[in-house]
Amino acid sequence: MNALTFPILKQLSDGQFHSGEALAAQFDVTRVTVWNAIQYAQSLGVEIFSVRGRGYKLPSAIELLDKDTVLRTIGVQSEWIQLEVLDTVDSTNTYLLNAAANGAPHVSCVATHMQTGGRGRRGRNWVSELGASLTFSLLWRFDCGATALSGLSLAVGVGLIRALNELGVNAAQLKWPNDVLVNQKKLAGILIDLQGDMDGPSAAVIGVGINVNLSGNALKRIDQPAIDIQRVSEGHALNQSVLLGTVLKHFIDVLRDFEIHGFVSVRDEWLSHHAYQNQTVRMLMPDGRDVEGLVKGVADDGILLVETALGLQRFSAGEISLRAVSHER
Ligand code: ATP
Ligand code: BTN
Repeated sequence: MNALTFPILKQLSDGQFHSGEALAAQFDVTRVTVWNAIQYAQSLGVEIFSVRGRGYKLPSAIELLDKDTVLRTIGVQSEWIQLEVLDTVDSTNTYLLNAAANGAPHVSCVATHMQTGGRGRRGRNWVSELGASLTFSLLWRFDCGATALSGLSLAVGVGLIRALNELGVNAAQLKWPNDVLVNQKKLAGILIDLQGDMDGPSAAVIGVGINVNLSGNALKRIDQPAIDIQRVSEGHALNQSVLLGTVLKHFIDVLRDFEIHGFVSVRDEWLSHHAYQNQTVRMLMPDGRDVEGLVKGVADDGILLVETALGLQRFSAGEISLRAVSHER
């Protein structure tokens, strides 16, 4: 990492031109050093205009996370949370997993302005963009073991829907096990990494990526239909710190409930937002087979129930990937 890159990006966050000379004077470095820092940002995928005689500029102003606004939005429950905002990190999940192994407290949260190696499930990539994506992870420690957490990612999805609804995004639906879709396009993803024994205690690192206002370039880099909040909320601007605070507030509610009752307490709510309830889907099996079935719902432990040619089958998260039949054929 170039140590000057983020301080410069913060200066550019107003969306205005800043001359190389002014930036160099401000940070007491040479113009070449400024240029190197800009080059490094560009190598990370940040789009920066460079115009002779005027300087450097981001395509538009961006909003950076403000810790106080996040905590104020969470409200009284904020005393539960240790919040850290990083300028840049490879993956907030990887970072928090390491921190958890080194004793990070229940309930730690790490958010970042720029994630450079975001992960999805099974080694897939998560695309994010400076100022245009919310990426964060939350550490929740459980007394029970990992085997009792099978419905956790679904419960977290309910928390995400509650937060989006509170902020006026009402068309969001859940795709088992834990994607958030709007009009069958992916708006947000959840990745849960578990640490600890199968019979307890355990720690869950709950990673969330939400698309806020992605550029056309970022959308092109995603190999499935994707959408962002800006595009579904008719241009109504959403403050990212308020978004993070609202999501964390609902996560705390849902996770406290989950600790006591498990997934069953939010199962009906999950089903009420289920994108594929009673619909035919295509399931991509681990052995590469493609099986069609009618989705009947989810069980009390979050297992997916699908009627296939072989009868009613049960699938755990991680076993299969779902695809809407109508969308792909
Ligand atoms: P499933 O969860 O059903 O197995 P999935 O395709 O949603 O399938 P995930 O591992 O959950 O897979 O998510 C990673 C995938 O999400 C990537 O392979 C890519 O297709 C998509 N993706 C990556 N970045 C974004 C983004 N910012 N917005 C929406 N989708 C994205
Ligand atoms: C998915 O849909 O597969 C889950 C994507 C999860 C992405 C988030 S972004 C913050 C956190 N850090 C990561 O590396 N991944 C998750």
